[in-house]
Amino acid sequence: MVEFLPLTAIEPAAVEHLLDAAFGPDRFGRTAYRLREGGTAIAALSFALVEGGALLGTIQCWPVAHRGADGTETPLVMVGPVAVRPDIQRGGHGRALMAHMLDAAEREADGALMMIGDPEYYGRFFGFTADATGAWDLPGPFEKRRLLARAVNGHALPVAAGMIGPR
Ligand SMILES: CC(C)(COP(=O)(O)OP(=O)(O)OC[C@H]1O[C@@H](n2cnc3c(N)ncnc32)[C@H](O)[C@@H]1OP(=O)(O)O)[C@@H](O)C(=O)NCCC(=O)NCCS
Repeated sequence: MVEFLPLTAIEPAAVEHLLDAAFGPDRFGRTAYRLREGGTAIAALSFALVEGGALLGTIQCWPVAHRGADGTETPLVMVGPVAVRPDIQRGGHGRALMAHMLDAAEREADGALMMIGDPEYYGRFFGFTADATGAWDLPGPFEKRRLLARAVNGHALPVAAGMIGPR
């Protein structure tokens, strides 16, 4: 039986092993990791997909904020990493993980969603776009077209210039 569990129920070493397999061991240099620094994944929005005790995939969400030049701070939720075991990718597990997280986010998220990801995937299936993020900046290199966001749970997206960082 395939089931969702809170990510906190999974051995952290097993999660790290899956992330190494999906992203490669050099993943820590990515800009997304700077946004997670010092923080803790949001337990209510982070899940594992498990079948018979085997870890198929994971999704994490992290608390970040958009800080405008005028000092305005807007809480956001950063989605990712989303990872599916390489040998079973393209079997619908990534979509299932995202759908499960979005369902929880519609009740639990304390800010709109943002992520660094492929618009061809996250736009096509889940409504993420780069429409609001053109004036956003990140503490590291990124492709503008891959900086995506989406309103959720009544939280609108800030469109003003601002720096995204941990909160
Ligand atoms: C990206 C990822 C989470 C998707 O999960 P998945 O279970 O492999 O994909 P799904 O089965 O849910 O979705 C498959 C569909 O999405 C498409 N798709 C998958 N990854 C894509 C990508 N990066 N860009 C565009 N389309 C993509 C497939 O072509 C397929 O479309 P189709 O149904 O028309 O053939 C998974 O492939 C993965 O872990 N990749 C490596 C890590 C990564 O890049 N994570 C995302 C950044 S946070």
